Amino acid sequence: MAADEPLVLGIETSCDETGVGIVRGTTLLADAVASSVDEHGRFGGVVPEIASRAHLEAMVPTVQRALDTAGIKASDLDGIAVTAGPGLAGALLVGVSAAKAYAYALDKPLYGVNHLASHICVDQLEHGRLPEPTMALLVSGGHSSLLFTEDITSEVRSLGATIDDAAGEAFDKVARLLNLGFPGGPVIDRYAREGDPKAIAFPRGLSGAKDPAYDFSFSGLKTAVSRWVEAKRRAGEEVPIRDVAASFQEAVTDVLTRKAVRACKDEGVDHLMIGGGVAANSRLRAMAQERCERAGITLRVPRPKLCTDNGAMVAALGAEMVRRDRRPSAFDLSADSSLPVTETHVPASFPDAHDELHRLSE
Ligand code: KG4
Ligand code: ZN
Repeated sequence: MAADEPLVLGIETSCDETGVGIVRGTTLLADAVASSVDEHGRFGGVVPEIASRAHLEAMVPTVQRALDTAGIKASDLDGIAVTAGPGLAGALLVGVSAAKAYAYALDKPLYGVNHLASHICVDQLEHGRLPEPTMALLVSGGHSSLLFTEDITSEVRSLGATIDDAAGEAFDKVARLLNLGFPGGPVIDRYAREGDPKAIAFPRGLSGAKDPAYDFSFSGLKTAVSRWVEAKRRAGEEVPIRDVAASFQEAVTDVLTRKAVRACKDEGVDHLMIGGGVAANSRLRAMAQERCERAGITLRVPRPKLCTDNGAMVAALGAEMVRRDRRPSAFDLSADSSLPVTETHVPASFPDAHDELHRLSE
């Protein structure tokens, strides 16, 4: 680990995870997460107000835990990074306010960064600096996108995205209709391991010759699973949960990996990274590995803990911002629940805004 690499603390509160990570360059020093997931379980999805309150309670202890784990003092930091969007407005606001307070009190530069770009950049903590260009398949509870980047601190281009449900959302909805609880991804993954992926031929959305090559659709698949399960129940037959889980998972991963490999080939990119919560899926990882190998593409998938929302990914992107000398955010940075993926961070609107605001408030 190079001692002159930037030391950055990252705060992530876009959904139900209060994440605080500390990295030096591409080295992970701490990844503290407090989750309110159990508080949402009985509602079958994340309740924004509950998430915001939980972030508020968890923030300071989680920052302290991260500093203790990393064995550093807050004053040693070179910058504070925070998810500015996209995500739940109230939840983002807690993280942005906390990051501003820490940056101001410690007199450190503040970097409001994009949640999706962070999901890509986190792979630097696992496999070293991202190759340029890199194709990224980002699959989470809120997003399913194919993204092309040549420099993760300044340029992300969207090639395609879901036109309805996100991949993780489809896992969560199918788990709910099978009464498997929330979040659905991990439990479907587990059941699917003992099921037959060929048992039921579920549809592959947007896979026809005339369909958009890089867009995804999962709502038809969800409806097909629902109809199939309902028919079994009406007939008084037992629902083969493991086979349904395996066949559904096969349909999702088949489409995701086929389109991602095709995008790499079409754009002449020989590195594919997969990020976001659904990248923790064991079948997706195995199928992507197999198809990438066949196509001569190098696959990069971070370990599952770095795929789901965490603070380390925000710190990783923040450290890259510092290393590349990107302009910090101003203290009037606001949370943007629909921050476009093309905006990797939210720099101050004029070059000296950060210093100027600091001077004025003194
Ligand atoms: O990235 P993430 O932690 O939060 C969002 O930004 O959405 O992703 C959460 C999503 C949930 O929908 C969850 O069901 C899904 O990721 N997920 C999985 C697995 N682990 C988490 N989906 C499939 N297989 C898994 N093993
Ligand atoms: Zn996420």
